[in-house]
Amino acid sequence: MTSAFRRDYKRNSAITDSETSTNTRLQVIFTDVLQSLLGIIRRHQVTWEEYRAATAWLTEAGAQGYEIPLMLDVFLSQTVDDVNFGAQGGTESNVEGPFYVPDAQLLERPYVLTQREGEAGERLMFSGTVSSTDGSPLAGAMVDVWQASAAGEYSNFHPTCPEGNLRGRFTTDDLGRFELETIVPPSYGIPDGGATAKLLAGLGRHLIRPGHIHFKLSHPTCRSLTTQIYFEGDPYIDADVVGAVKDSLIVGLVRSDDAATRCSYDFVLASRNEA
Ligand code: DHB
Ligand code: FE
Repeated sequence: MTSAFRRDYKRNSAITDSETSTNTRLQVIFTDVLQSLLGIIRRHQVTWEEYRAATAWLTEAGAQGYEIPLMLDVFLSQTVDDVNFGAQGGTESNVEGPFYVPDAQLLERPYVLTQREGEAGERLMFSGTVSSTDGSPLAGAMVDVWQASAAGEYSNFHPTCPEGNLRGRFTTDDLGRFELETIVPPSYGIPDGGATAKLLAGLGRHLIRPGHIHFKLSHPTCRSLTTQIYFEGDPYIDADVVGAVKDSLIVGLVRSDDAATRCSYDFVLASRNEA
């Protein structure tokens, strides 16, 4: 440790190094975060002007509702997902993103994702199955779906998109199958005009995610799974601003002249008795 580092450490550890200190995970991780940030300030000789700009950015982001979680999701969530998806097998997990809303409407068969009259977008029949890593189909698995509209808007977050739009929950049939009618979500930009967009612009980065549908799947005998499905041929499939796309989560779209576009995916949940 350089003497500057030692000085930083001594100053900041005074907060936690008391007689009663227990080295909680918060203390361990926060100390590491702080050491990294202090090192960065020294290495780049951060000016007061830059420090104030960072403070102002955080103040602005904090006042904009979901901009802080959005920024954390954009830059960090992919890696949190990586370190948490273990060797349990089954369909790969994927980030939840900032736009999940619990308790979406329970749909009845035939399943049509809740939508506006004349909802814009290419009609999609998404079919598939849910089974367990031991090979058995999972009847009555709960499937919770949410996605953006053709205009790239998530309901409950974008003011012009009605609450609950393009969100819904449904269950698989006796053979673990499901079929859902919805629309193909095009690639879209994460909300423009906010603090996260401003930061990305400053970094010279675009705001686009490839089109995707979010899924949460659960069944009493298995581990729950949060993932996303992407579409082959999407122009941003290799350039996701969040960097979350995984090959195993990309499906092909089958188009026809006289029917809705189709795709399918067979989800596999890790059975609870596996590592
Ligand atoms: C993020 C994820 C999404 O699914 C989305 O629609 C927007 C942002 C994210 O992880 O930042
Ligand atoms: Fe999303």
